[in-house]
Amino acid sequence: MENKRPEEMERITTRALADAFIEEQIAAVKAQVGDKKVLLALSGGVDSSVVAALLIKAIGKNLINVHVNHGLLRKGEPEQVIEVFQNQMDATLVYVDATERFLTKLEGVEEPERKRKIIGEEFIRVFEEEARKLPDVDFLAQGTIYPDILESGPVKAHHNVGGLPEDIHFEGLVEPLKFLYKDEVRVVGEALGLPANMVYRQPFPGPGLGVRCTGAITRDRLEMVRESDAILREEFANAGLEGKVWQYFTLVPDYKSVGVKNNVRAFENFVVIRAVNTRDAMTATIEEIPYDLLGRIVNRIITEVPGINRVLYDLTPKPTGTIEWE
Ligand code: XMP
Repeated sequence: MENKRPEEMERITTRALADAFIEEQIAAVKAQVGDKKVLLALSGGVDSSVVAALLIKAIGKNLINVHVNHGLLRKGEPEQVIEVFQNQMDATLVYVDATERFLTKLEGVEEPERKRKIIGEEFIRVFEEEARKLPDVDFLAQGTIYPDILESGPVKAHHNVGGLPEDIHFEGLVEPLKFLYKDEVRVVGEALGLPANMVYRQPFPGPGLGVRCTGAITRDRLEMVRESDAILREEFANAGLEGKVWQYFTLVPDYKSVGVKNNVRAFENFVVIRAVNTRDAMTATIEEIPYDLLGRIVNRIITEVPGINRVLYDLTPKPTGTIEWE
């Protein structure tokens, strides 16, 4: 019962409705936690960012945001989290750069599910360690949204990275978005003043670029994924496609081919471009990237990303190809 969206709850589609929701939640959170401290794992994704912005309004410095950088984030992401939440909103933010720790754990690991498991478990461990350093935190906030509740089950569990720290006791959970659908979360995020590129961000898997640096992750290839992804996103944004295509990203398989650069043989890696549309991620169709845009992207990747001599465009729908390659 407690996890059922109230029937009388109006769908949040306008700024005014979002403002009313925000006021209501601020009062509810204040009533729930009083002057106690609340901990939040702030990934920088839409849901946790909106929870952070809302709780900063409600309880200010009593919200402690922990941003764990597992070294598999996209270019500019940790910087944006620090800029928005610490610099602009003046929130309490603990930034943990755990890159070395994750990459060391992942060294030589090829099997996709093992990679996911290592990343997920290590994430909880790092978060727990940080939580233990903070003495009097009573509540844990989470960016749970209504589809998480509706879909909770084996599929979702597999997709979640993070989750609850297991052996830390909290007095309670703070989940202000738990009855909202994704589109409502975005309207609320905008009303809270979050930047559009944060609110309308494409879905990004918990294990991050780790599943796009296929096979055993190496620092070199990870950098190729990060740089080529940044170019793709920039070109999509310039072409007005940001927020219009479900997911678009690059990956770099663990495979080299012969090419030629500056008149010499170059035995290097290649980048794969993937751009798909879907409603529910169960099936997906290909976004037809216009040829002139594709040409610009390819040109920039082969000239700007060291170690890449070739670019491929994956035209496989789901099924049979999943959205990610791992
Ligand atoms: P697939 O590759 O199964 O992906 O077609 C469907 C959607 O789920 C995302 N995805 C993940 N999200 N942890 C996540 O949080 C994961 O391990 C994971 N694997 C895939 C994928 O990006 C797509 O949106």
